[in-house]
Amino acid sequence: MKVNITETVLRDANQSLIATRLPYDKFQDILEKMDTAGYYSLECWGGATFDSCLRYLDEDPWDRLRKIRKHVKKTKLQMLLRGQNLLGYKHYPDDVVREFIKHSADCGMDIIRIFDALNDLRNIEVAMDQTKKCGLHASGTICYTLSPIHTLEKYVATAKELVNMGADSICIKDMAGIMSPKEAYDLVSAIKKAVKLPVVVHTHSTTGLGPMTLLKAVEAGADTIDTAISCFSNGTSQPPTESLVYTLEQYGYKTGVDQKVTKEINDFFKPIQAEYLKSNLLDPVVMTTKTDALTYQIPGGMLSNLVAQLKAQKALDRLDEVLAETPRVRADLGYPPLVTPMSQMVGVQATANVLAGERYKNVSKEVKAYLRGEYGRAPGEVNPDLIKKVLGDEQPITGRFADTLEPMFEKTKKELGDKARSDEDVLSYIAFPQVAEKFFEAREEKENRHVKYTVRRVD
Ligand code: CO
Repeated sequence: MKVNITETVLRDANQSLIATRLPYDKFQDILEKMDTAGYYSLECWGGATFDSCLRYLDEDPWDRLRKIRKHVKKTKLQMLLRGQNLLGYKHYPDDVVREFIKHSADCGMDIIRIFDALNDLRNIEVAMDQTKKCGLHASGTICYTLSPIHTLEKYVATAKELVNMGADSICIKDMAGIMSPKEAYDLVSAIKKAVKLPVVVHTHSTTGLGPMTLLKAVEAGADTIDTAISCFSNGTSQPPTESLVYTLEQYGYKTGVDQKVTKEINDFFKPIQAEYLKSNLLDPVVMTTKTDALTYQIPGGMLSNLVAQLKAQKALDRLDEVLAETPRVRADLGYPPLVTPMSQMVGVQATANVLAGERYKNVSKEVKAYLRGEYGRAPGEVNPDLIKKVLGDEQPITGRFADTLEPMFEKTKKELGDKARSDEDVLSYIAFPQVAEKFFEAREEKENRHVKYTVRRVD
């Protein structure tokens, strides 16, 4: 049986281990080799890469994608997209979502993995539709979480809805690394039984379950798994590519991945790993196993945020109370999956409830917006008393939030005038206005400097 391998070193591993600080120049020389490895796809764009290119790396993200495409001719390129939020944290109007996907396609993208943090499929329907219209593979995604209302039946129902929306595959996305081997086996089996599409499993090694979870997912019929080349694997990253390929091949699965080539790829990344360890951008701690998430049923990243918050407020001795309050807040909010931005919202609120000595005395503007329905529909019922306490007589919106937004692509393009040299610049600006503006200015300055330099040489 065939099992596809998606290599994540350029996106999720990069994002999870070294805060997405891998510049294009550092990996350009291995791209052609990676293209011969036999990977099903290279996850190389989307997520935090776009923001990081503009903010920290002085790179045009669109350019990065075009350059990757130039060197990777055979292997499919893949990106992660947060539905109506694209690569940011707020909802964009539909015209922006459509433009963004069209340009991603033009720059060479093949597969778009589309998710919504609340699994509110209304927030991914436009992105799914446009991905299909552009002729790309739309991977409809389910965020995996544990709660009394997130049952197998509910996940299967979501998978069926994704089929109706035109998904080309179903991705189970376990962003926190809490999906156990058994849960993966049961969930993949149930989805494979209910739908005909390929199933993709994405997890993280954070809690140490990752490699076992992927193996059991494959045994249950998963068609594609995400892994990272070994020196950028494990911990908060994905399970190691080579170990999974080795194991699966022994069991008779065909991955199509050439183990001689993955060795060369790993050898290429080893000195890069060493360099990031030396500069402290890669903290060895993130590569270790942290099982606390299994005890508290919250993602490791969220746990360290809670600890940092309490430390900053000199209240670390209240950690146990905050950990007890966290599931109560989550229940009040209708059990949102604990993924960005919900994990932060729930954690901050639980901390505030404990430290104020009164529940919901202080409510953040994000939680208010959530209660108003601006993030979408909560998976479960939101505590009506909480809605009343925070919103008073104001009624939450029940429709799709993006329907309340005016189109903004053409308008922004006009406003930007010469500052934007292309539609891609306009999209970068809409996604991250201040950051993009700074990037445009720096680009201009760099070019002027270059022109002066050239002129002097000619003289
Ligand atoms: Co991930």
